[in-house]
Amino acid sequence: MRLRNVKNKEEILKSTTYLEKEPESNKGKWKEVFNNSNDIHIEIGMGKGDFIIENALTYPNINFIGIEKYDSVIARAIEKLNDKELPNLRLIRMDANKIDEVFDKEISEIYLNFSDPWPKKRHAKRRLTHESFLTFYNNLFKNKCHIIMKTDNDDLYEFSKESFINFGYKINKDIKDLHKENIFNIETEYEKKFSSLGFTIKYLDVEKDNL
Ligand SMILES: C[S@@+](CC[C@H](N)C(=O)[O-])C[C@H]1O[C@@H](n2cnc3c(N)ncnc32)[C@H](O)[C@@H]1O
Repeated sequence: MRLRNVKNKEEILKSTTYLEKEPESNKGKWKEVFNNSNDIHIEIGMGKGDFIIENALTYPNINFIGIEKYDSVIARAIEKLNDKELPNLRLIRMDANKIDEVFDKEISEIYLNFSDPWPKKRHAKRRLTHESFLTFYNNLFKNKCHIIMKTDNDDLYEFSKESFINFGYKINKDIKDLHKENIFNIETEYEKKFSSLGFTIKYLDVEKDNL
């Protein structure tokens, strides 16, 4: 993602109630943060937040947490929340490689939308669907592990599918051209951009028991 510095980002991050400043202190206690026992869905690498914000508006009985590693990017998402009141939404600024410090068997669904493809083989471990991340995710999920990913990148799609299967996930849905299907779909910023450029959007919905 091209990163534009947001000058007053510290101020934006400081002044919002959507951002969880010490997310580790909520580990195992996210129910208390939301003050209910509704399912919790997280998006890792949420970018500027269109997807997670629209989901929170559409599904008030699901709790959503958007995770993003860059200040400037998360600041853009926070700006979009100024005129909204969404008790079912929280944001976290962190690198996903620390995610197991923040959740303990309390997540129902993970969204991976247009994750960085890390095309070089030597960077494969950084892909958010690499076995090392899937191992991490086991600690986050409640009794079922459920991941939904979208990407425009063929290599990441193939790599992820293989990685999911090798890790014991079963494929619920495997769609090669999402926008040709007649299903309800909340689009992300990248999805809007790349589909308008003619790229097809690949979609995987995978699930396994968390033994
Ligand atoms: C290509 S963008 C996609 C953004 C958004 N999901 C969308 O579809 O429009 C990938 C985003 O993931 C974030 N990201 C990449 N690796 C991450 C990591 N390890 N932890 C948290 N965020 C990450 C990047 O900063 C970037 O905002």
